[in-house]
Amino acid sequence: MSIDLTEDTITKEVQSTFDGCPDPRTRELFVELVRHLHDFARETRLTDDEWVTAMDFLARVGQVTTPTRQEFVLLSDILGLSVLVDLINEHHGPHATDSTLLGPFFEDERPRVPNGADISGGLPGTPMFVTGRVLGPGGDPLAGVAVDTWHSDGEGHYDVQQEDRLHGQPAMRALLTTDGDGRFWYRSIAPRFYPVPVDGPCGEIMQAAGRSAMRPEHLHFRLHADGYRPLITMLFRRDDPYLDHDAVFAVKRSLVVDFAEHGPGTAPDGTEVGEPFQTVDWTFTLTPAARERRP
Ligand code: BEZ
Ligand code: FE
Repeated sequence: MSIDLTEDTITKEVQSTFDGCPDPRTRELFVELVRHLHDFARETRLTDDEWVTAMDFLARVGQVTTPTRQEFVLLSDILGLSVLVDLINEHHGPHATDSTLLGPFFEDERPRVPNGADISGGLPGTPMFVTGRVLGPGGDPLAGVAVDTWHSDGEGHYDVQQEDRLHGQPAMRALLTTDGDGRFWYRSIAPRFYPVPVDGPCGEIMQAAGRSAMRPEHLHFRLHADGYRPLITMLFRRDDPYLDHDAVFAVKRSLVVDFAEHGPGTAPDGTEVGEPFQTVDWTFTLTPAARERRP
């Protein structure tokens, strides 16, 4: 162990403390983390006060984090790290539906419902009819695919953000299964754009930067089929004002779709609707599980 370390020698010294790490990947991750952290401090000439502020910030991120309030994940989201990791790892191939973030509002506790079900939980809002089809890479319909969907209400709130109103009752989320023709369909209420949580330390960053905290209107999907890579994705409303300013950088052009507006009339499932309603129709394509990942 050297003493009298300098700005120029300390990085190698700290990196060498990982030489004995038996797992090569753990060693690589820490050696590179030290390199980038030290370079960051040197290049920005980080001051004592700034370092104290950063440590206090991270402590507060930890303090507000709970199983349902993932401020560390949100920090990763607003710094673009979550999407970067998804981009590095999730190559479903040129013909497959693009993936994007899971987000914090997926819940294991969700009702399994038959196709055609109304999953709104009785909440008020503009009726929305979603129809989807799931295909394999050759265009073959995939039957029996587990399709999770979840979304906000017309004021941008998920069910888990409405404890007082819903008392833990799930709404606007469900697990469906594709039929023999690869199709799934359900009724719900239309979602709306919403801000990511800004009442914690991440809100301070967004405010300091004068950044928008908004996420454009979207529906979440998670598709699981035997023999295929799981797909986590979202569909975004084409005419949403926040498409180009998503606070978490998750929008992909290929996932921007029409949320069609209709006057009162017949819905895609044959239901007569006495008020304006919306329809969303999309085809998802999955990749076989064995597909080689890009290096
Ligand atoms: C969401 O889409 O539900 C979401 C994703 C990242 C941060 C906050 C919300
Ligand atoms: Fe969302």
